[in-house]
Amino acid sequence: MSTQELIRQFDPGQDNLLNILHALQNTHPQSYLTEEALEETARYLKMTKAAVFGVAGYYSMFSLKPRGRHIIRICISPVCEIMKGNSMIPVIEGVLGIKTGETTKDGLFTLETAECLGQCHEAPSMMINDKVFNHLSEERIREVITNFRSQKS
Ligand code: FES
Repeated sequence: MSTQELIRQFDPGQDNLLNILHALQNTHPQSYLTEEALEETARYLKMTKAAVFGVAGYYSMFSLKPRGRHIIRICISPVCEIMKGNSMIPVIEGVLGIKTGETTKDGLFTLETAECLGQCHEAPSMMINDKVFNHLSEERIREVITNFRSQKS
C-alpha cells in the first residue's frame, strides 16, 4: 500500500493527525516518519507543513529518522532508577555496541529511553517493540537481546 493510500484510509479531519502519523510510522520498515509522508499528510489534512512537522517533532513516540527493526525503550523514571535501571543502560549499550539514541549497523536495534512504562512494581523495566521485560539484570538483558537477534522476522 502506498503512503497516499494509507493516509486516505482516514477521514480528512485534522483530529486524525495523530492516527495517521501512528499508521505511517508503524507501517514503515524503519519505523519512522519520512519527510514525504509528512508533506503528504499536510496536503491531505489541509494543514501547513510546519504544523504537521511540529506535531511529529513534539511527541517522543514519533521518530523523524530511520530506526531499527526492534526498538528497545529502557525506563528512566524514578522507580526504575531506584531499582538500578540506569545501570542497565550501559549494559544494553555494550551488548549492542551503540549509544542510546543510535541504531545498530545491521539495522536490527534502536536504543531509546522512555518514561514510566507502568511496570514499577516489577522494575527495572524495558520494552522491545510492544513487549515488556521486567526485573532486568545484566544476564536477563543478554538473554532477551540474543533471542531477538535470532528471530528471523
Ligand atoms: S518507573 Fe519504570 S516502569 Fe514505572
